[in-house]
Amino acid sequence: MSTIIVYASSNGNTKAVAEYIAKKTGGEAVAVSDAKNKDLSSYDTIVIGGRVWAGGVPKDLVEYAKNNKDIIAQKNSAFYVCCMYNDEKGQKQCDKLAAEFGIAKHAFFNKGKKLVQGDAKVIDDFIATF
Ligand SMILES: Cc1cc2nc3c(=O)[nH]c(=O)nc-3n(C[C@H](O)[C@H](O)[C@H](O)COP(=O)(O)O)c2cc1C
Repeated sequence: MSTIIVYASSNGNTKAVAEYIAKKTGGEAVAVSDAKNKDLSSYDTIVIGGRVWAGGVPKDLVEYAKNNKDIIAQKNSAFYVCCMYNDEKGQKQCDKLAAEFGIAKHAFFNKGKKLVQGDAKVIDDFIATF
């Protein structure tokens, strides 16, 4: 089982969560800007992670997922965002974005850097779904 986490982060939270998932799964965390040369067909699980600004994730991540839509649909896939909410607003925001990406398994994390340094149970619970 091999896992790739393709992420887009501005201030490090989404990156920290990607690296945590990589560590836990023995997978690889790759910034979307470096992901062009990665062959997604060689992974069993594809995780897409983005930071949220103004309700959206970075355009390059959206483009990347669009360009790789077919292979992502064939694989075990999951989606997460790092955001400022830790409540229903965060859930709704994440549900909407995950639907746009067409990825069923999804989760949102508030203060990703703190989570990976402390109680990462919410991320472990997410990992357990894929
Ligand atoms: C300009 C700006 C806009 C933001 N807009 C949103 C937003 O619409 N929804 C939200 O939940 N969080 C929003 N946030 C909070 C970030 O999503 C949050 O800090 C996240 O952890 C950033 O991830 P990163 O550290 O990987 O860049 C915003 C932050 C900034 C700086």
